[in-house]
Amino acid sequence: MTHVPDIQAAVEAAAAALRARIGDRLDGAVPDVAITMGSGLGGLGEEIEDPVRVPYEDLPGWPRPTVIGHAGHALIGALGGRPVLGLSGRVHLYEGGPPDRVVFYVRVAAALGIPVLFLSNAAGAIRDGWHPGELMLIADHLNLTGTSPLFGPVVGTENRFPDLTFAHDPRLRAIVRETASDLGQTLHEGVYAAMHGPAFETPAEIRMLRALGADAVGMSTVPEVIAARALGIRCVAVSCLTNYAAGVLDEPLNHEEVLETTKLARADFQRLVAESVRRFP
Ligand code: HPA
Repeated sequence: MTHVPDIQAAVEAAAAALRARIGDRLDGAVPDVAITMGSGLGGLGEEIEDPVRVPYEDLPGWPRPTVIGHAGHALIGALGGRPVLGLSGRVHLYEGGPPDRVVFYVRVAAALGIPVLFLSNAAGAIRDGWHPGELMLIADHLNLTGTSPLFGPVVGTENRFPDLTFAHDPRLRAIVRETASDLGQTLHEGVYAAMHGPAFETPAEIRMLRALGADAVGMSTVPEVIAARALGIRCVAVSCLTNYAAGVLDEPLNHEEVLETTKLARADFQRLVAESVRRFP
């Protein structure tokens, strides 16, 4: 059981290091929102004004992502007129190690007192009539990763049995929906199925996910939402649909296509996040 105090101690050490950098940029103000930039969506970082850039390697204990398209630094600055902490690059379950690694940054955000987490990801489109290059607001999720970031002893102040009824915050979702409508953007809303990966799904698995009520599929976000809810952070998440899920078309999938397609949605995505954050309570 020795790893439990270690996790919390590591979280607090990283939070202290980040707090010092936040002090430089925001005069000690706590960011209103932490924003996780998904695969190919790190361009949002360029919208953050006068950012202080903190490479993850400068933050003690911070797990470093290994995937192409995930840079690996925190950005402290303003977006939509609000103080934010941008996170470019995240660790996925499929990179190995305990699920703790994936949610380390969420625990740091909680230690800093950040009240809202805005997540994004690249996802495969399952729902008929939805296409690559479009955005989907996550209304709810299916945790099919076979694990939970909360397995094991309770860490810090997290709730042992967090309620996930409103995991994807209804009020924040309403703001994002309304923002998309005001910006004239198409924004789908649906259920995100989280898989462990790293292999893409088989066509049979996609048929299963469709039958289970999934509209999109990916390999991230859900562990972080679960940890955030256990720590009282409100969450909202947007998927960039980057490909038709396996078997929807009679052709193979690949990661390069995923990254390439994010370019189609990038401008809409960036405006949507910045304008939504401006309107958050
Ligand atoms: N499946 C799983 N993860 C993904 C996909 C997909 O089709 N597209 C982008 N991330």
